Amino acid sequence: MKIVFYASKNTGPWLAAIASALSDAKVWLWTPEEAGRQADYAIVWQPPAELFASQKGLKAVFNIGAGVDGLMALPNLPGNVPIVRLNDAGMASQMAEYVSHALIRHVREFDVYSEQMKERRWKARRPANRMDFPVGVMGLGFIGARVAESAASFGYPTFGWSRSGKSLPNITVFAGQDGLEPFLRAVRILICVLPLTAETQGILNAATLSKLKPDGYLINVARGRHLVEEDLLALLADGRLAGAALDVVCSEPLPADHPFWTHPKITLTPHISALTLREESVAQIAGKIRMLECGQTVEGVVDIRRGY
Ligand code: NAP
Ligand code: GLV
Repeated sequence: MKIVFYASKNTGPWLAAIASALSDAKVWLWTPEEAGRQADYAIVWQPPAELFASQKGLKAVFNIGAGVDGLMALPNLPGNVPIVRLNDAGMASQMAEYVSHALIRHVREFDVYSEQMKERRWKARRPANRMDFPVGVMGLGFIGARVAESAASFGYPTFGWSRSGKSLPNITVFAGQDGLEPFLRAVRILICVLPLTAETQGILNAATLSKLKPDGYLINVARGRHLVEEDLLALLADGRLAGAALDVVCSEPLPADHPFWTHPKITLTPHISALTLREESVAQIAGKIRMLECGQTVEGVVDIRRGY
């Protein structure tokens, strides 16, 4: 079996891990010089379009991430073979940790205590009532469902929204376009864990974010382009939103002169809320390749029409 790999960094450890998990495979790093070398499988993260232009016999493409927006944007992605994304592979619990941290930091006012500490001020604030902070999770897939479950486990009233709806214990779920407005109106803390598609790009905008309960708070851990950044700045400026925790932004890395860097109501991290874990990911992909080789179907195949 022949496997072409592409990523822009840490390629040595990835090649070694794939070769070790699939010991009968020949594995190589894609380069323009070797573009014509034909593979059975491609394992990639944000590959150049040329990779697919020269591959004629791929049986499947594996994305070493959950989001496939980068792949979907390529002009010559093969349309007749499975495009397979990671399902969870250790990302759901990382995301649940990240979101719980952002949620609790906001609700329990830990940023205020950090400021008080700088002033050597010993002063307790009024206890927060979780009932005043209903949480809404957009996207209830492998990662979003885990995030929603973790918010509910702390006792926050928890709502979810997805295309098709889902039954999750202790979570009130809304579905589809008709469910979006009642979902937003029920929520004060909004968490975005949607895939980036033609339908979801710009979904966090003045119209949707204004429907949140007063003093709403946004946690975006999905993709920067879900958010209309100028709308967020305007809503923060007029006090309609209380703040935002952003792990993703439209232009990554965030340009040095971007207003988010210094905004007092915005907390930023550099796209680290759920990192791809090499060991778990390679084990998952190797297992799926073995299943495909036996003619079995695998989980996590992208529906190209929907874009996720
Ligand atoms: P997933 O399993 O594909 O789940 C996607 C969820 O979004 C599903 O519940 C789906 O609804 C819902 N959805 C999609 N389009 C929708 C629409 N138009 N309206 C309403 N709901 C819609 O994806 P996942 O594995 O949970 O990952 C979600 C996203 O997280 C990824 O695509 C990626 O962009 C992001 N991510 C970010 C990081 C990071 O470090 N920041 C790390 C990993 C992933 P159905 O259930 O009805 O299909
Ligand atoms: C990371 O952002 C991913 O989509 O896995």
